[in-house]
Amino acid sequence: MQKMNIMLLIGVLLISSLSTYVYADSPPAGSKEMTLHDFMEDYTEIAMKKSKKGDSKYIERVLKEIPNFSIAENKEKWSEISNKALETKEFGKSCKGCHKEFKKSYKKQYKKRMITVPGDIIQLFKTLKK
Ligand code: HEC
Repeated sequence: MQKMNIMLLIGVLLISSLSTYVYADSPPAGSKEMTLHDFMEDYTEIAMKKSKKGDSKYIERVLKEIPNFSIAENKEKWSEISNKALETKEFGKSCKGCHKEFKKSYKKQYKKRMITVPGDIIQLFKTLKK
């Protein structure tokens, strides 16, 4: 009888520790995890195309967020590049500006790194994609 209780206790402990592990790692509701590469292709590029057709709200939202996707040591630079584009409305300049300096090295080291895209961006683009 005592053995069974101990087994039960271990079972309960195992399940509860497992669930805290799962929940601790899940991103905030509505947001989505992806690589920066996928974000660039599926959001930034689409936003830029929309902007060229006269609707800049997508690219403005994207550029506001991009510095948050940076690794810590580049965040200041990424903010500068993005803010400048937002101020001047020359959104296209930011692409080249950042890619020239950061794309190669990021790809080499952080290709698989996951970023968390906020829920409002996922929502905003829902109407655009399909
Ligand atoms: C502040 C930095 C930054 C800005 C601004 C930026 N990108 Fe990127 N972009 C990156 C990095 C870093 C990668 C490489 C990600 C990887 O492959 O892991 C990338 C990759 C891409 C890719 C994937 C294909 C490829 O060439 O490797 C596309 C498409 C892309 N960016 C489009 C854009 C467009 C369009 C803009 C401008 C509206 C833009 N990006 C602005 C940093 C930036």
